[in-house]
Amino acid sequence: METVISGTTTTTEDLNNTFAQWVVIHLPKGMSAPANLSTVDPISGDTFIAFSRVCVHLWCLCNYDATSKLIVCPCHGSEFVPGDGAPYNSPPGTAVSGQASNQPSPNNTLPVLTLSIAKDGSMYVKGQIGEVGCGQDCASQASSTTSAYKGA
Ligand code: FES
Repeated sequence: METVISGTTTTTEDLNNTFAQWVVIHLPKGMSAPANLSTVDPISGDTFIAFSRVCVHLWCLCNYDATSKLIVCPCHGSEFVPGDGAPYNSPPGTAVSGQASNQPSPNNTLPVLTLSIAKDGSMYVKGQIGEVGCGQDCASQASSTTSAYKGA
């Protein structure tokens, strides 16, 4: 299975909408995430987690780097952990370096999106914990973030 899947919502209106961009990450070995933030694939038993790609610093789009196992913002170097575990031992989505890590909570975490995985491996991203561009503990103002990825 792929390590990372990214995309946007499936409506035409959202294809060019920065705030509808998401990434689903297959948590690497040694990392975990609380059950309320992550989803276990019923086929593989592996854990996945979905984040908004919108950096909480100045809203550039972040990408997952499988080598460093961090979500990286290309604009000013913020790096976010996708899950708990060494060496950072910070909650999923926490900025561990760069500009976003200097911001006070809740503006130092990427919002987590609600991910469900069907028995056939289809993944659905809908809703969110936090506010895109703000952080996990910000009240969500977005009506929805919906998309689907078919296959595993
Ligand atoms: S916009 Fe991401 S670090 Fe500045």
